[in-house]
Amino acid sequence: MNIKLATGESIPAADGENILSALKKKGIYLVSSCGGKGTCGKCRIKIRSGKYRTSASRPGRDKEKGIVLACQTFPESDVSAELLEEARLIVGDRIALAKSKDLPELLRSFDSEITPIVKRLNIKLPPPTIEDHISDLERLKRGLEMKGVKGMRFSHTFISSMAEDLRKHNWEIHLAYVDGPEAIFVTSDKQTARYGIAVDIGTTTIVVYLIDLADGKLVDVGSTYNSQIRYGDDVITRIVHAAEGGGLEELRKTVTGDINNITDTIIEKHGINKEHIECAVISGNTTMSHIFWGLAPEHIREEPYIPTVNSFPLWRAGTARLHINQQAPVYTLPCVASYVGGDIVSGALASKMHRNPEIALFMDIGTNGEIAIGNNEWLMTAACSAGPCFEGSGIKHGMRATEGAIEAVKIAPDTFEPSISVIGNTAAIGICGSGMIDAISELFLSGVIDRKGKFVREIKTGRIREGDEGAEFVIYKGAKDIVLTEVDIENIMRAKAAIYAGISSLIKEIGFTLDNIERIYIAGGFGNYLNVDRAVIIGMLPDIPKEKFRFLGNTSVVGAYLCLLSEKLRKEAEEIARKMTYMELSVSKNFMDEYMSALFLPHTDMGLFPTVEKLLK
Ligand code: FES
Repeated sequence: MNIKLATGESIPAADGENILSALKKKGIYLVSSCGGKGTCGKCRIKIRSGKYRTSASRPGRDKEKGIVLACQTFPESDVSAELLEEARLIVGDRIALAKSKDLPELLRSFDSEITPIVKRLNIKLPPPTIEDHISDLERLKRGLEMKGVKGMRFSHTFISSMAEDLRKHNWEIHLAYVDGPEAIFVTSDKQTARYGIAVDIGTTTIVVYLIDLADGKLVDVGSTYNSQIRYGDDVITRIVHAAEGGGLEELRKTVTGDINNITDTIIEKHGINKEHIECAVISGNTTMSHIFWGLAPEHIREEPYIPTVNSFPLWRAGTARLHINQQAPVYTLPCVASYVGGDIVSGALASKMHRNPEIALFMDIGTNGEIAIGNNEWLMTAACSAGPCFEGSGIKHGMRATEGAIEAVKIAPDTFEPSISVIGNTAAIGICGSGMIDAISELFLSGVIDRKGKFVREIKTGRIREGDEGAEFVIYKGAKDIVLTEVDIENIMRAKAAIYAGISSLIKEIGFTLDNIERIYIAGGFGNYLNVDRAVIIGMLPDIPKEKFRFLGNTSVVGAYLCLLSEKLRKEAEEIARKMTYMELSVSKNFMDEYMSALFLPHTDMGLFPTVEKLLK
């Protein structure tokens, strides 16, 4: 059977194979937030003709128009189908990055010397003669001993090319080695260009910094959406996919493919030899780090939620399949628990919260929501599984913060007419996280929705209407109307309640109140655009003085940068991971109570939000 697309392409589908899977095999990807389980409603496709069986067609206009869910639809003859623009997944897009900080300056602020993972030793060996006829390895060991280095280990890979390397460089070499000590490769003593890459593997995005190891300067930066999005939006859908036959290998290939594509492009642009990239640092959540190394992540998801590794050995780039010097050591930021990974350790390091006596709260609002609290003496952490709705998942017209996304909304209090701003100043095609928070806070303040997030039907406005999925508010009228449905609002309120409940239960657990928090660091891609006032109005962030908030941007990649260049900071990162006490919120009664109380705008207890109370008056 074939699926004939409007573009003329004909895609074969096996007996019993769903359309989403058939398209995927041919490299055509649809948004599939739930990973093909039929629950997110994102993989919609229009069938023009042909016989098919579908187990889930959404009621209303979709059904009338022949729109079905691709993951739940099985062709029974040749079908002709049309891809809907909003369902197409483009993962190769470059993403906008906040301007990079002065990284060497940041490193200096940590009072740290540049001490890369790979060390060098200059050795001049006497060439062998008939009289001095010891083996090459013994000759090298003898040379090392004369330099006071004992106990160096040599792998089979190293020794395999050693004879050739020593002669090629006329017995005058740089021996590159890592702590252990273990020899990793030999270069000419004239080769001075040395680079490293710092990589953030986010569930949604991947960022690579190419760094000159001599001065710590950023040579270039590249980023892309994590192509694993093809298999689902959040870590759970990825873990489920990894457990399916060949799924782990597929996910692994996808993530290394993304990192290699970025690295190849950057090094080609700068004319850098990939052999000169001699170390890498990886920062990601526990699931992403496991998948990167090809380790099965399924136990992360099952009680009692145990990862295979928290502290990763210093494996080589060849094992990681990275397109850099194959012997380059790859350092992975240590994880704390199944849902608090190296990205949070990296973030805590970059924020310096572990060095200061003030009590700080660090939160990374990305696809997951992780929180750390503490100071230079102690650290506690938790994950509040807010879900990826602020990145568009589970929201009718939700999308990531890219061109065409409504990022800010204002609603006139007298006419209820919205005014919006759209990323890239183009026609709106959806709404991103900051737009959702803006919209809900404005709808609430203008009285269009009540404290439960329900539309106040008495309000006189043509903007509220009945849609396919119940009541909706039209934020933008255009070729395609952009709406926020009552169900969307409910989903966003659940996510914001999880974040707030995470913060408040962690604070309560340690016997503190919000007043004890002297600083709040907000990290994550989303953190770049977040409007604190609006986030407080909907009750996502606590109502505390605005000057206590600091936005840090992508701290995961910054922490990776710091670890790439400094031995002292690698040790500090390990110390942070060791020190962090993890609290499992999913089994905490306190969290459930806090969550239920936070399912209102802004909260059941108005006394916790005096600023909002004042605004409402
Ligand atoms: S409904 Fe098909 S991928 Fe989610």
